[in-house]
Amino acid sequence: MSYSPGLKDIVAAETRLSHVDGEAGKLVIGGYPLEGIAERATYEEMAHLLWHGSLPDAAALDRFAGELAAGLALSGTSIDILRNAAKERRPVIDAVRMTVASLPSTDDAADARSLVTGLPIVVAAYWRLLHGKEPVEPDPVLGHVANLLYMLHGEIPGDERVRALTTYLNTVIDHGMNASTFAARVIVSTRSDFISAVTGAIGALKGPLHGGAPGPVISMLEAIGDADNADDAERYLRKKLESGERLMGFGHAVYRVRDPRADVLSRAARSFFADEDELYALALHVEKTAIELLEEYKPGRRLQTNVEFYTALLLRGLGLHPDLFTPMFATGRVAGWVAHCMEQRSVDRIFRPESRYTGIESNRWTPVEDR
Ligand code: ACO
Repeated sequence: MSYSPGLKDIVAAETRLSHVDGEAGKLVIGGYPLEGIAERATYEEMAHLLWHGSLPDAAALDRFAGELAAGLALSGTSIDILRNAAKERRPVIDAVRMTVASLPSTDDAADARSLVTGLPIVVAAYWRLLHGKEPVEPDPVLGHVANLLYMLHGEIPGDERVRALTTYLNTVIDHGMNASTFAARVIVSTRSDFISAVTGAIGALKGPLHGGAPGPVISMLEAIGDADNADDAERYLRKKLESGERLMGFGHAVYRVRDPRADVLSRAARSFFADEDELYALALHVEKTAIELLEEYKPGRRLQTNVEFYTALLLRGLGLHPDLFTPMFATGRVAGWVAHCMEQRSVDRIFRPESRYTGIESNRWTPVEDR
């Protein structure tokens, strides 16, 4: 049996949901090239596409959006978890993971709706509780993404902000067999429920090598910006690389060229920064310098900008705090996780790879007093 660390190059599932072409830098979601759909569709349309295999007509969209909106009011248990977590100042993504775990599981269809409707409610409610404010109830007249911003800030958001956040959530909705999606599929493969699967997926997403990267991207830009000298970008990045650290927002397990999601998000982010905005200009400079240095330090590895670099800028442009970046990623990815849960359910085959034993086999028992 061959051993592939990280299951690299192993095909673990078939999917019709998304295709990542790492050499060409192409991402196809539900049959549509990313750049043809992410900036146009609503989140509800994208979820329908992934769950039902096609974009809905007007009547089907109305019905689907209505079913989602009717999805959930948080139970007393979930609210208690949020309030207690806020008292203990738990990180947002941990409070989200705990609260998602508390959602009642009934059947797959109801769980799917609860998860997609529930994540924005949980994120927004926790953010408000953390800042001494009461949660805002969703407004049934608003769409999914407008509601998310409304529940966060307590104000009806403008169209431009809704469009930009929708583009972000659509862009990250699905991405092949990434670590969090794989985690969700492994859990469903045991015939466990979708709530458990998405709870596990959130745990996988939060790591800095996956969805935890955009917060550190902003910290990096701020640290370089503080130095108010463009040469410091190079000095700062070199120091990181020489101490063996990874540059957040660069490199990808699959892409060997620029992540196509970075292009979509940089377009969306640009509209929130006037041309002369220092942070955006600094980001462009840091991006260029980082790519040159990565080629110097890791020649031939073809490390390029990934989705998280421009996620950080776009979400920052929308006025969101970095602590909300990974929870926002989860809010976008959740419909994709659920779609994979549905696919995995129909496959109904438990994941059980082998491991290669590297320990010894001849130890003999010694009583504790003799060790
Ligand atoms: N900075 C410095 N070195 C890097 C970086 C980076 N951002 N990315 C990869 N490398 C190095 C690796 O350490 C490895 O070096 P080595 O061969 O000397 O050990 C070499 O480049 C090749 O790595 P890959 O095989 O291309 O990358 P891998 O598949 O192992 O990791 C990952 C991919 C985890 C995304 C990595 O690029 C990374 O840590 N990036 C920074 C964190 C980040 O931005 N994460 C978000 C990814 S996007 C997403 O998950 C939504």
